[in-house]
Order: sequence, then C-alpha cells, then structure tokens
Amino acid sequence: MSESRRDQYLRTWHKDLFKGKVCLITGGSGTICSKQAEALVVLGCSISIIGREQNGVDKTVKELSEIRTDVRVVGFGGCDVRSFDSVQSAVKKTVDQLGRIDFLVCGAAGNFLADFNHMSSNAFKTVIDIDLLGSFNAVKACYEQLRQNRGSIIFISATLHYYGVPFQSHVSAAKAGIDALSNALAVELGPLGIRVNCIAPGPIGGTEGFQRLVPNKKGFASKIPLQRVGSVQDIANATIYLFSDASSFVTGTIQVVDGGFWQMGNFN
Ligand code: HXC
Repeated sequence: MSESRRDQYLRTWHKDLFKGKVCLITGGSGTICSKQAEALVVLGCSISIIGREQNGVDKTVKELSEIRTDVRVVGFGGCDVRSFDSVQSAVKKTVDQLGRIDFLVCGAAGNFLADFNHMSSNAFKTVIDIDLLGSFNAVKACYEQLRQNRGSIIFISATLHYYGVPFQSHVSAAKAGIDALSNALAVELGPLGIRVNCIAPGPIGGTEGFQRLVPNKKGFASKIPLQRVGSVQDIANATIYLFSDASSFVTGTIQVVDGGFWQMGNFN
C-alpha cells in the first residue's frame, strides 16, 4: 500500500483502534471497498472480502495480507450477493475462519450508463438486485453476528438520487432504496446496539463511477466547492469514523463525502 496513505491513517487514528475486530465487505475487491479494507487492516481489523470475481478477490486478499502480520485476511470469490445462499455460505466460512463479524460494509454494486429507451426490464432489475437486494442479503446473513457483537453496518450509497441524473435511473433507484433500507434498519436494530449508516461518495478519482460519469475531467475540480476531486482515502476515513467509538451515538445517517459537490446543484 502507499506509504503516504498509511502515514495519514496512523497520524489520525490509533494503530490498534480495531484490534480483535472483524469486518466483512461485499464487493471488497472494488476500488473504493478495497481501500476501505486497507485502512481497517492498518488499524488492526481482520477482513473477509466477498466478490464475484475470484481473481480480483485473490489479488486483494494478497495485497491486504502484506500490510500487517497480526491481522487475518480471507476472501471468498464466486459469491454473488443476489443469492442469499451464496452470501450465507461466505458468512459461515468467515465465522469459521475468523471467529466473529463486528462490522459489515455493503459495497457490491453494478453500474452502466443506459438511457431509458435502451434499458431492458432485466437490466434495471439486475442493478436493483445487486445493489439493493444484495445489501439486504448481506445484512440478513450477518445479522446474528452483528447482534451478538453489537456491530455496525455501512451501506455504500450515492448522491445521484438527490436530483435527476440521466442514464442512471436504475442506479439512482437502487441507491434511494439503500438509503431507505438504512433508515429503517437503524430504527429497528438500534435497540440491539447495532448502528446502521450510509456513506454517499461523490466524485472519487480512479473509480469506475468517476470514469463513466465524468467524461470531461479538465477543470472539473473547480466545480467542486472544496476544489479537488475526492480520493479513496476520503471514503476510508469516513469508514473508520463510522466504525469507531467516536461515532457511538451516530446511526441512521448518510455521510456524504463529496467536497460539497451535490450542494452546488444548478450552479454546475
Ligand atoms: C444497457 C445493459 C448494459 C449496458 C448490461 N446490460 N450492460 N443494458 N446498457 N451497458 C443489461 C444486459 O443486456 C442484461 O439485460 C442485463 O443488463 C444483465 O446483464 P448481464 O451482463 O447478464 O448481468 P451480469 O453479468 O450480472 O452483470 C451485471 C452488470 C455488470 C451490472 C451488468 O456491469 C457488472 O457485473 N458490473 C459489476 C461491476 C460494476 O459495474 N461496478 C461498477 C460499480 S460503480 P437483458 O435484457 O439483455 O437480459 C458504481 C458507482 C455508482 O456503482 C455511482 C456512480 C456515482
């Protein structure tokens, strides 16, 4: 991992903040989620990565395993969050190998640009199933562990559905559903000591979303109030905060990490 990222995490957070904890991450070999995992490992958290692509999962597990020797990292490829049985099986193997699950990141997502006229019913359903049903399945499969350990959940949402973004009707609908799921679960699961929050990333450099949704990158940073494109580290820092005791009275929130971009509205 990059030394500058490690140094920043260790300047801000205690190196053993998450020692003894275990986090399961769906879509864990993606650009954003693998860097959330990296930050958690730096701070002592063991990790279980779940993903559809075996090669991507293997590569991420290898990279994470090299960061810290007293932390365990396991991965389960070939796991499709649309299938509850598939997620349940990976959760069971995680508990067998790592002993527990304290934190869950629901990060598995699908996206492509498609205008309404060229989007089939199955294309729309595919994204709803990966993003929304997949998030539900992950919580459902981890529920017993999260209950026992008074755990914490982070859903990966977006800001697309705060306004209208063309060619993203499927993703926007899915992410709006995730926000609603998060709100309801925060209220239902709060009395059990389970905290539930969303992170809504804005334009984050190096991600597929940024590549696809921002074709013209020249001068783009100047459209963002904080005058820069976001980094995967920005999302990782929000993740650390939401899993740490610093946010022990925080649930049912959507942590927007976008440099103030969506607040610009029509000024862009
Ligand atoms: C129109 C499309 C399409 C496209 C697929 N489909 N791509 N329709 N335009 N570009 C249609 C197919 O024709 C099919 O419908 C249906 O979608 C399912 O396609 P499959 O390829 O069979 O599905 P599957 O193999 O399950 O793949 C799912 C996927 C794929 C979402 C389509 O792109 C994927 O696996 N993506 C995972 C990785 C990914 O996209 N990550 C990006 C995350 S970024 P028919 O009718 O033909 O059967 C992100 C950021 C969001 O989420 C926020 C941005 C700010």
